[in-house]
Amino acid sequence: MKEASPTEPIGQNLIKLISNVCFSVFVFSVLIFTVIAITYQPPDPWLQSSKALTRVFTEVENATFKIDGSVLPTGEDVGIAPVVSPSAVVQITEASIEKSEEKMVNLSSLPSCDESLKTVNCSDPRVLIAIEKFNLKIFKSIVFLEYQTPVNGSKPNECDVAWKFRNKKEKSWRKYRDFRRFRIGIGENCSYRVTGANGWHSGINARRPRPKLNSTKSTGAPKASLAIRDDEINDTIPTVGSEAAFRKGRYLYYSRGGDYCKGMNHFLWSFLCGLGEAQFLNRTFVMDLSMCLAATYNPSNKDEEGKDFRYYFDFEHLKETASIVEEGEFLKDWKKWDKTHKKKIPIRKVASYKVTSMQLKRDKSTIIWRQFDAPEPENYWYRVCEGQAAKYVQRPWHAIWKSKRLMNIVSEISGRMDWDFDAVHVVRGEKAQNKELWPHLDGDTSPGALLEKLKGMIQPWRNLYIATNEPFYNYFDKLRSQYKVHLLDDYKELWGNTSEWYNETKLLNDGRPVEFDGYMRVAVDTEVLYRAKTRVETFYNLTKDCKDGINTC
Ligand SMILES: *[C@@H]1O[C@H](CO)[C@@H](O)[C@H](O)[C@H]1NC(C)=O
Ligand SMILES: *[C@@H]1O[C@H](CO)[C@@H](O)[C@H](O)[C@H]1NC(C)=O
Ligand SMILES: *[C@@H]1O[C@H](CO)[C@@H](O)[C@H](O)[C@H]1NC(C)=O
Ligand SMILES: *[C@@H]1O[C@H](CO)[C@@H](O)[C@H](O)[C@H]1NC(C)=O
Ligand SMILES: *[C@@H]1O[C@H](CO)[C@@H](O)[C@H](O)[C@H]1NC(C)=O
Ligand SMILES: *[C@@H]1O[C@H](CO)[C@@H](O)[C@H](O)[C@H]1NC(C)=O
Ligand SMILES: *[C@@H]1O[C@H](CO)[C@@H](O)[C@H](O)[C@H]1NC(C)=O
Ligand SMILES: *[C@@H]1O[C@H](CO)[C@@H](O)[C@H](O)[C@H]1NC(C)=O
Ligand SMILES: *[C@@H]1O[C@H](CO)[C@@H](O)[C@H](O)[C@H]1NC(C)=O
Ligand SMILES: *[C@@H]1O[C@H](CO)[C@@H](O)[C@H](O)[C@H]1NC(C)=O
Ligand SMILES: *[C@@H]1O[C@H](CO)[C@@H](O)[C@H](O)[C@H]1NC(C)=O
Repeated sequence: MKEASPTEPIGQNLIKLISNVCFSVFVFSVLIFTVIAITYQPPDPWLQSSKALTRVFTEVENATFKIDGSVLPTGEDVGIAPVVSPSAVVQITEASIEKSEEKMVNLSSLPSCDESLKTVNCSDPRVLIAIEKFNLKIFKSIVFLEYQTPVNGSKPNECDVAWKFRNKKEKSWRKYRDFRRFRIGIGENCSYRVTGANGWHSGINARRPRPKLNSTKSTGAPKASLAIRDDEINDTIPTVGSEAAFRKGRYLYYSRGGDYCKGMNHFLWSFLCGLGEAQFLNRTFVMDLSMCLAATYNPSNKDEEGKDFRYYFDFEHLKETASIVEEGEFLKDWKKWDKTHKKKIPIRKVASYKVTSMQLKRDKSTIIWRQFDAPEPENYWYRVCEGQAAKYVQRPWHAIWKSKRLMNIVSEISGRMDWDFDAVHVVRGEKAQNKELWPHLDGDTSPGALLEKLKGMIQPWRNLYIATNEPFYNYFDKLRSQYKVHLLDDYKELWGNTSEWYNETKLLNDGRPVEFDGYMRVAVDTEVLYRAKTRVETFYNLTKDCKDGINTC
């Protein structure tokens, strides 16, 4: 099961949050975790989710859990989206390699044995085959998708090669890139064989220069000549296009409600409700990409506005799977229309969530505008999906994937350990300090206890990734006597000011640097944890305390 957060950023404010935030929000966040805990059963938990969700939501009303700032599994974790890529993906397997070998044997154009004995010719197809076989044998958790022709490395017997892959644990069709340097030896009767391989992203000669796009908007006039670095990420903001196209559309517009600045899971729960209603009504959802990140996730300990949806989630995938328009573009087109036409755009304003989706189904207005002006908790978007509506409106979970930019960091960290690592999830922070609800947690996660416990579960000198909310970096030093310890902060440069992530997120933020915040940390930490070969959980494996406090398990 995919379990909650490794890091609970900046502990103290949890308590503050709990006392500040009204109880229903509190219970609500708790319920989401519970729902996930209960319904998350790979491969396909959300299929029967609708019923399970409502049941759990009505049953667990007076729970006394704690918010723990964990990261909700998204579409690519639960794998409900069609796993197949839009462009047919060819997976490299033993069978496909054999086939291309056979084909080659039939071709007489191959260099003869004497020639190839002298030097390694990287563009010889047999070199690639040797490398493909090697990779398949070494990286069992990886699906290899496309290789490029190897090129010369820095020495005569070296070849650099790039490929695309995905991790078997990720159920999306998103592809990631790696390029490595291999040493090639020549075996008996002239066969090539890999005698050594360098690490993640070592084959720099095979790195393709990336094409640069010229504008941030995909259709509109190119305002700024901002380059998009990752040729695989296209999260430009789509425009509606012509006036006629705008007028022909049907839109569902939600004003900002009480959800703003609440936790990320609250946001998702609400956002997906809106998106689900839009799908039910067969309308385009007007979406605000500008978010407010709750204080719990911010090093500053304050709510921070102006965060971009694209920092956290995959907007490209969302564009492809749902009909959406960005709020700014939408309002611009709307204003323009009303200015230049006598007849205004037909609009239906809906003041209360009590007007149900079913009542709006027949409405022909161009815009349905739901306003959320009531006091909390009457102004939460997700209330639209409560009651009767829950039977009709489905939350499109598959539309939400985590940001590819964050996932690139996850791949980089896992890749640097050659996907050959074990991980332990050490939950400390608030929970460790609360002896009433978690009497043994602090002791059970002390360095000495950890070392003793892990000795029984993980071989010495393995790579050990520690996903944790323990802020003190040296806390785990004791484990270094037995394991090669890796912590998220060991990879700081992946989001530091010389990183690709830094450059790319800066472009989304009008050229201002973006902070790697607590939510991003938790998201990356969790995903790396998830890719480990052996995974040790705090609750169940390290301590007998219950995840949600005493007597809850
Ligand atoms: C709360 O829990 C108590 C004891 O577990 C139970 O008796 C009560 O009915 C619950 N209240 C609600 C509203 O579910
Ligand atoms: C290669 O040739 C053999 C017979 O020589 C034939 O059976 C096989 O189908 C051929 N393979 C390909 C891929 O052309
Ligand atoms: C290397 O192999 C490729 C493909 O077989 C061939 O076209 C090329 O001429 C070879 N180069 C050398 C230097 O042998
Ligand atoms: C690669 O190296 C071989 C010899 O090691 C050389 O003959 C060939 O020209 C090189 N190819 C390129 C593209 O530099
Ligand atoms: C290479 O030699 C081995 C034994 O030395 C033999 O089994 C194999 O069939 C040979 N491969 C080819 C392609 O001739
Ligand atoms: C990018 O845009 C700038 C100015 O808009 C233009 O001068 C430049 O030629 C464009 N580059 C490409 C590769 O299209
Ligand atoms: C980016 O996506 C938009 C659709 O959202 C599409 O119109 C545009 O052509 C894409 N750009 C590239 C370079 O793929
Ligand atoms: C949804 O709307 C599109 C055009 O906006 C229309 O072509 C389609 O028939 C509608 N589907 C349903 C089920 O109403
Ligand atoms: C990156 O950050 C370091 C330390 O914070 C600073 O010394 C350096 O000048 C920065 N480099 C750039 C390119 O901003
Ligand atoms: C980031 O951008 C700077 C300045 O444009 C550039 O010098 C640097 O090479 C870029 N770094 C990466 C990793 O792309
Ligand atoms: C952790 O606990 C679970 C549940 O008891 C168990 O299935 C799993 O094997 C344990 N993990 C390790 C690494 O021992």
